[in-house]
Amino acid sequence: MSKKYKMTISRLTVDKLGLKLYDRVSAVIAEVIANSYDADATNVEVIAPMGEYLASKSQGILTDKGYTIEVKDNGIGMTPDEVNAFYLKVGAERRKDPKRGGTSKKYGRRVMGRKGIGKLAPFGVCEIVELITSGGDLTKGKDENGNIIEGYLTAHLILDRANILQDTDAEYNPEVGELDGVIRAKHGTLIRLKTFDRRHVPTIESFERQLSQRFGVPSEHWKITLYDSLKTKTDPGYTLHVGEFFVVKMEGSEIRFEEIYDSSNKPYNPRKYRTVDSSGQELTDITPGFSFEEVFYPIIGWVGYSQKPYKDDLMAGIRIYCRNKIAAQTKIFNMKAGFTGEYDIRSYLVGEIHADWLDEDEDLIRTDRQDILWSHELGQAFEQWGQELVKKVGSLTREPKRKKTWQLFEEISDIHNKVLHAFPGDEQRDIRKNTVEIAKAIARTTREDELQEGENVDSIINLSLLLGPHITLDHKLNEAAENSGNPLSVITGILKTARIAELAGFGKIAEDRISVIRKIEELKDDPETLEGAFQSLISEAPWLINPQWSPVIANQNFSTLKTEFQKFYKKRTGIDLRLENFSDPAKRADFVLSSQDNIIQIVEIKKPAHGLENNEMDRIVTYIDVMAEFLSAPGNEELKKIYSDYHVTIVCDKINLTKVQKAAFRGYKNENRLTHITWSIFLLRTRKMHEAFLNEAERQKKLATEKQ
Ligand SMILES: Nc1ncnc2c1ncn2[C@@H]1O[C@H](COP(=O)(O)OP(=O)(O)OP(=O)(O)O)[C@@H](O)[C@H]1O
Ligand SMILES: [Mg+2]
Repeated sequence: MSKKYKMTISRLTVDKLGLKLYDRVSAVIAEVIANSYDADATNVEVIAPMGEYLASKSQGILTDKGYTIEVKDNGIGMTPDEVNAFYLKVGAERRKDPKRGGTSKKYGRRVMGRKGIGKLAPFGVCEIVELITSGGDLTKGKDENGNIIEGYLTAHLILDRANILQDTDAEYNPEVGELDGVIRAKHGTLIRLKTFDRRHVPTIESFERQLSQRFGVPSEHWKITLYDSLKTKTDPGYTLHVGEFFVVKMEGSEIRFEEIYDSSNKPYNPRKYRTVDSSGQELTDITPGFSFEEVFYPIIGWVGYSQKPYKDDLMAGIRIYCRNKIAAQTKIFNMKAGFTGEYDIRSYLVGEIHADWLDEDEDLIRTDRQDILWSHELGQAFEQWGQELVKKVGSLTREPKRKKTWQLFEEISDIHNKVLHAFPGDEQRDIRKNTVEIAKAIARTTREDELQEGENVDSIINLSLLLGPHITLDHKLNEAAENSGNPLSVITGILKTARIAELAGFGKIAEDRISVIRKIEELKDDPETLEGAFQSLISEAPWLINPQWSPVIANQNFSTLKTEFQKFYKKRTGIDLRLENFSDPAKRADFVLSSQDNIIQIVEIKKPAHGLENNEMDRIVTYIDVMAEFLSAPGNEELKKIYSDYHVTIVCDKINLTKVQKAAFRGYKNENRLTHITWSIFLLRTRKMHEAFLNEAERQKKLATEKQ
């Protein structure tokens, strides 16, 4: 052959293989582990500084932190000759190499390796890759201490990214390590990465999750273990096994693609596949694969809805595996937006499908292994199959599910009877219809498991009963606006509906309040409950003290009064007064200062069963004195105009006062300056009042509905 023409390939090509895309430590380590799998390893250990940055960067300067990442396997290893022939060849296809082949020797694994570039992946994150590997046949020779032993010949070399990536087509000779040529008792390979770019090692837990996602199903004789090099054996989180990637699926949503076997459990010839739903029923309109140029490309695995929206990107969408190694992940097979069930698909669709033909005859896996070559003809056919699948899943699974949730809700909640009971009048058909519609809208989007909880069902019912009349009112108002005549009957209809809506609102408030009261009745007898907790409760729900009181909305005047009073109090008594402060609920306030109908309310709350002591009464007397003085102090005229008087409420179960204090207490009570209530009386009273209110609201509603 003439040597007139010559083609050379620069070593910079290596850099162009997409190494930069290997920017995630887990992706890099997955490549190294894939090689261990192909080498029939049963154990792989990954030792790394978990959760750490591998280098720091300041003012554009990168400083390596001296960490190493090691991947150690007990596979067949390599002799120095094999290192040259296999490892140091870039782009040699092992499946075409008779010495290595497409299946592993010992366990018959269908090897993951194909392109002959995986070993370069570490250079996506580091500068130096050290390889120590012992392999070949069992031989006798000197070990590292010069003793004769039986074992495996070792290769030890150090590869340096900067030297590889020279703009030359000359040979590259990696540095030789001190173990090179020795015999070691065990075969296997150690890859050590050093001198890193600024990359982050995931925490041991997320590392585990990432690796389990990258390698499909765990197989027999195959174990990956992670170790945190920053910890010692006894530390928690020192080590973790890589298990199965687990996604909790919504019950009944799964569609499976499987191979069928004959009666003696052998594959048919040609092989047979089928699609089944979660009850085992065959689904004939979704094929377990597709045909392209008269060849059938089977898909094995499942798709379905996850029970909860995606917790991370790892579980999102359909994971596509080739020979148990992740090849791509897709949510909707590149489909255009705007199809039935799209929202659900985008937030719930999950799946794990195996397409082992992806790199068989044709290699559809991108060089950087981040995705599949969808534009390839076969890729297009696959994509089309996937899109059909997504569309079917979108329209099939979700709608019946929704209908099912509504049916389930109808059963559990007894909604129709409840609505009829609340709005029984003939004229109230619209309100009933709208109430049920609202319940339907909410229930349909609720998950089945949520519907099993009584509380959720109740709150949907209550909300619908509350909103139903309002929506109807809104419709009626719109109707009236469009109807230019506005006959009196329309107006009457509106007023009646408005009344029902209003009463529904009142009833709801009273109902909510009663449940708060019940809660307090429980809390009251719990010794753990602190006065501080009651204090903040009273500030937020002052109607507990008096049903007519409502929560104070942030109000400039009252804040001024509070701060001014605090200053005044300090001046008079030298004591810092602590008033309730929501920004720090842990700090107990001296008392609650509130205002209702322009009266300043001082509320002193004592723990249930507590007896009021003389010194506590002294303090209350001081509050009263200072408050009186404050309100009549010169300069406070404006405040006095707004807040004309003040009142003290003491919530306390017993009064243990004597002498002067006892007299003072009585005196204030007689003047109506002070109200004393005990816990049980106060709760009972509040509850009675609210219940009465609720009953009245009910009665009014009935009245209003009967009149119609
Ligand atoms: N841990 C290992 N134990 C034994 N041999 C190994 C190991 N790692 C790599 N090799 C050898 O080095 C070769 C090159 O590895 P590399 O990952 O570059 O290519 P590949 O695995 O054949 O293909 P791919 O690029 O698809 O991963 C492998 O085919 C294998 O023969
Ligand atoms: Mg490989």
